[in-house]
This record gives sequence, structure tokens and C-alpha cells, in this order.
Amino acid sequence: MLSEKDFIPKQYTSFVQTGSFEWSAPSNIALVKYWGKKENQIPANPSVSFTLNNCKTITKLGFEKKENNGSFSFNLLFEGKPKPDFRPKIEKFLQRVEEYLPFLKEYHFTIDTQNTFPHSSGIASSASGMAALAMNFMSLERLLNPDMDDAYFYNKASFLARLGSGSACRSVKGNVVVWGEHKDFEESSNLYGVTFPYVIHDNFKNYQDTILLVDKGEKQVSSTVGHDLMHGHPFAQQRFEQAHDNLSKIKEALVSGDLESFISITESEALTLHSMMMTSMPYFILMKPNTLEIINRVWKFRRETTIPVCFTLDAGANVHVLYPENDKVKVLEFIKNELVAYCQNSQYICDEIGNGAQQIA
Ligand code: DP6
Repeated sequence: MLSEKDFIPKQYTSFVQTGSFEWSAPSNIALVKYWGKKENQIPANPSVSFTLNNCKTITKLGFEKKENNGSFSFNLLFEGKPKPDFRPKIEKFLQRVEEYLPFLKEYHFTIDTQNTFPHSSGIASSASGMAALAMNFMSLERLLNPDMDDAYFYNKASFLARLGSGSACRSVKGNVVVWGEHKDFEESSNLYGVTFPYVIHDNFKNYQDTILLVDKGEKQVSSTVGHDLMHGHPFAQQRFEQAHDNLSKIKEALVSGDLESFISITESEALTLHSMMMTSMPYFILMKPNTLEIINRVWKFRRETTIPVCFTLDAGANVHVLYPENDKVKVLEFIKNELVAYCQNSQYICDEIGNGAQQIA
């Protein structure tokens, strides 16, 4: 396991004047949820997620050597246009990672970014966005230090992405990623995500995630504020212990192919996440009436058909409907006939488990 110090480069052996890279990084959906953190983006409990395939951020990073004048210098384009709203987030990210990427103030950057999913769909773009940016910075660092091996490259990319947004560290690799120290995962770390190290049962091959866009509006409470409310939360300790237990159990389910167990852990985690929000002080609710309608209809459909479809939620009103590839036709028919009515403008996104960040030639 690597420590924070391992990510501070000793010296660079090469010189690079100018160039560019382009990477895509996907979103991910947690099965066991990260909710609550310590200083420096250290998670209060371990989590595990499916890396997605279609919901991605594509970021091109141009760089040009400049005099180190003591400040960061970058242009930021979102879908080809300047995006001043995003600058503070990037600025903060650069500050957090500077210690680990000491070349940052020696270049002027052009960050040109776009998402494959509709803007303001309520889908968190911070995970995919921070992961894509981290990959690009690692490509540049590898030019400065050509001896870097692949393992270090990906671990450090995940480490940097985490400093941008915790869940982003799970978007670097596929298909199932664990983040946070856990007794069943020897290589697991609080500092970066690692690929699920056991053979996953074929039941989960190409597992499907159809994201129902229930509410595309701005969230009332950001994840960052929500995490913070776990400090002093009356159920925090039990919740963190439960996450450890659930990670052990879902590990067994992923290996054995036990869909029943997978479903009960996944759905319980989603509802627990939202119950933590409802029992915070101040309390808040991110689900909408249509979120609950969809959940009830998923349960009814599962009861009546025995098709192993289940739901999970992130920090918002949207519902992720998860199911095996074999059941795709029937579940999509169900979604179109019964669930789309509860989506804003009938919008949903078909996704599935994927491989993680990719460099674009
Ligand atoms: C509910 O990673 O968005 O999606 O670290 O403050 O950027 P920050 O939070 P973020 O939190 C995600 C919370 C979650 C659960 C999860 O993805 O594990």
C-alpha cells in the first residue's frame, strides 16, 4: 500500500515544453456508499462501485511552459465555451494537488472539457470530470518522469482525483472499484481506489444501469455539505460499521453471483444513505415523490416477475435501475411502460458496467 509521501515526486528527469493529451473518464455508481469524510478527503468508511461505460467526461489538456510566477494559469472551456462557474472548483483542485504535482505553476493549461450526458441532468459530473483531469495531469507527469510504471500511474491518478472529489477516485479503473481500507481487501487504501481483486460472477457481466432522471434541478444540499453533517451525527458510528459489514457481504455476493443478497445490500445502502440525510441536523430530503413511485414499482415488478432488478440512489432524486444483461429486453420494456412517466421530460440514460478511464489518441 502506498502512502501520501509516495505521491510526492523526488525529481523529474525530462523536460517538456508544450503538448496536449486527451482522456475520457466515466461516472460510477456506488453500491456501498461513501457518506462522511475526515480531513483531506479521507473517507469515514470504505465504499465499492460499478464503473459506468457511457456517462463520461472527455477532457483535453493543452500545456505550454511558462515562467513560474507563483500562480496557476489556465483557460477553461466547457463544450467549447469559456465556463467561469467551473473555475473556482478547478482552482481549488490545483491547490490541493500542487504538492503532488510540483510542475503545475510552470505551465499554462487549456482545459477543454465536455460530458456525454446532458448538462444539468442531475448526474454528478464531478467524479468523471475530476478523474479525466487527473488522468491528463498524470500523462504530463509521465513525460517528465518516463520511468513511471503503470501501477503508479493509475494509483496516483486515483489519488489526485480523490482530492478533487472523493468518489472520483473510483472512476479511474473498471469494472468494480473499492475505495477505503477494509479487512477483506488487502490492497485497499483510503488514498485511492483499487480494482475489486476477486473474480466476479458472470451474473454481473455487462450489468446494466438505467438512470432515470427524476429531477434535473440544482440540489438543495451539496454532497460536500452532506458529508460534513456526518460529524456529530447520532448514527454515524453505527453507519460506518454497517458499511464495513455490507462491503464484506457484497463481496461474497459479487463472487458467488447471489443476486438476492446483492439486491438487499444495494437497496439497503441506498435507503440508508438517504436516511442519514433525513436524520442529520439540519435534516434534508433529496428524494422526490417520483423517486418513491419508481422504487415501489421496481419492487412490484420484481415480486411479480422474479426478475432480479433493483435500484440504487446517489445524492439526489434520480434512480439507478440495476439488472443483469440477460433481462435487458424485459426490464427496458418495463421501464418504458411504467417508469418513464415519472421521469422529468421522460428522460433516462442507458448505461452499463465499464472499464474506466481511456486515453484518446
Ligand atoms: C452519495 O464524491 O460527490 O454519491 O468528496 O465532497 O466531492 P466529495 O463528495 P462526492 O460524494 C459522493 C457521495 C455519494 C456516494 C458515493 O458515491 O459513494
